[in-house]
Amino acid sequence: MNVLILGSGGREHTMAWKIAQSKLLSNLYIAPGNAGTSQVGTNLNVSVTDFESIKEIVLKYKINLVVVGPEDPLVKGIRNFFEEDVEIKHIPVIGPDKTGAQLEGSKEFSKEFMVKYKIPTAAYGSFTLETYTQACTFLDTLTAPYVLKADGLAAGKGVLIINDLGEAKSSLRIMLQGQFGEASNKVVIEEFLSGIEVSYFIVTDGDNYLLLPEAKDYKRIGEKDTGLNTGGMGAVSPIPFANKEFTEKVINRIIEPTVKGLKAEGINYQGFIFFGLIKVNNEPIVIEYNARLGDPETEVVLPRIDADFLEILAAIPSKTLNQVPFAIKPEAAATVMMVSGGYPGDYEKGIVMTGFDQIHDSLLFHAGTTVKNNQTVTNGGRVLAITSMGTDRQQALKKCYKNAELINFAHCYFRHDIGFDL
Ligand code: AMP
Ligand code: GLY
Repeated sequence: MNVLILGSGGREHTMAWKIAQSKLLSNLYIAPGNAGTSQVGTNLNVSVTDFESIKEIVLKYKINLVVVGPEDPLVKGIRNFFEEDVEIKHIPVIGPDKTGAQLEGSKEFSKEFMVKYKIPTAAYGSFTLETYTQACTFLDTLTAPYVLKADGLAAGKGVLIINDLGEAKSSLRIMLQGQFGEASNKVVIEEFLSGIEVSYFIVTDGDNYLLLPEAKDYKRIGEKDTGLNTGGMGAVSPIPFANKEFTEKVINRIIEPTVKGLKAEGINYQGFIFFGLIKVNNEPIVIEYNARLGDPETEVVLPRIDADFLEILAAIPSKTLNQVPFAIKPEAAATVMMVSGGYPGDYEKGIVMTGFDQIHDSLLFHAGTTVKNNQTVTNGGRVLAITSMGTDRQQALKKCYKNAELINFAHCYFRHDIGFDL
């Protein structure tokens, strides 16, 4: 099979690395990819939302399967684009259509879906500028802190958590007046939930699904979860409190009703679902859905899968996921993200990286890197994910930290406390 992966981060390098091990693979392409993906496949310089150019490369390179990494092309309807074009409609896209992607693309859609299918989630209201007064009345009924969420995609910045009621009301007005463009024309206000977060992942063919390893990511830039939010500074898997009993609750109350609910809505959801959960009094509650895998969660999830990942993906179009061999390795995985100095604010790009050849017991998944004059240089805020396996989380993290010291680029930064709260 010829496979095209869309995306350019650590998630996509990890997918490429895993797919490159498949006995079913002929040629692997990544668009646009990064310096890491070019080690396991061929990078093609096409943007993930340029559907016409994607069609061209799919035909040119005789692609048999397209795997979508990020949410943007899904929410913009890449699957619909394929399904509606006679020349490429036979080529399966791993990822939901526009409607299915609303699980992530619209907070209001996902909340209504959860209420309809009795999936546990925080109490909420959804408001526009026209209903601002009602929104304030709703805020008055809640206790601090107040959770305001832009309805649409806002590059991970659309959630505000505010302690003061007056400030929440004024922030809400600013959001509704276009702080996040169209994404915040509608705002979902939620009850605040206090607990520890964990993410579950499935891959589904619309009828069957496989439960992938769970993970926890660390979003804040600073140690002990302080400072600004980032795309993710590290992740670990498995999660001790996500034991058999807790996972059964997640399956019965959240995963199964979600898969069945999507089907009942007439959505042929074929792709990944990321369940962002919070544990409150030992009960799982949904914070958010994503229509894709997480980054950097993928960097610990896929290395723990003991199966041919391409064989799994290739079974999706025929809805035969239930017939594919699948197992999870008992070992723990950890990933530590090395980032550019200044991130998530301004940072330099093009800084030369060294030390790759000194790493022998970790996997290096490139996030923001590129090749210039035969050298690997930084090309983003999140630069490199160092993933290690171990008999337990501590052992895996120890390898990550040892190896993080061996990779060098000017002003690099990483958190030293991934997994600190477990
Ligand atoms: P979201 O984009 O919906 O995942 O929200 C981003 C982050 O905000 C989550 O990972 C949580 O840490 C936090 N958050 C979102 N909703 C709530 C809530 N209802 N209660 C507490 N924290 C929340
Ligand atoms: N690491 C969080 C996400 O991928 O959304």
